[in-house]
Amino acid sequence: MYTEAVMDHFRSPRNMGVIEDADGVGEVGNPTCGDMMRITIKVKDDRIEDVKFQTLGCGAAVATSSMVTEMAKGKSLDDASEISNKSVAESLGGLPPNKMHCSNLAADGLHEAIKDYRSRQTATPAE
Ligand code: FES
Repeated sequence: MYTEAVMDHFRSPRNMGVIEDADGVGEVGNPTCGDMMRITIKVKDDRIEDVKFQTLGCGAAVATSSMVTEMAKGKSLDDASEISNKSVAESLGGLPPNKMHCSNLAADGLHEAIKDYRSRQTATPAE
């Protein structure tokens, strides 16, 4: 029922943890089940230099979170913004239909982190 790629990312999640001095933080909750995910990013020259995730959720949420960090790392912010929940699920070879909602956290969390980074750039620095 789960693909080998899902099981692999679930068993050995990539980029798990938190970047302490992150440039952007994205936090999202899944309204369907209440699970949560947090993504922190480090940005350099408009590229995602580093990305980490913490997920309080099911195995599918862990696998999609892990996959989205791999997909986003090294990408420009614009390209990373194009990553969709669907493309994350596809990269894992698909999810069972009743677990598709679990993929909503991953790309949404990444997009929130990028949004947070961009809002920090436009904010007036404190004097
Ligand atoms: S059951 Fe909540 S994210 Fe999968």
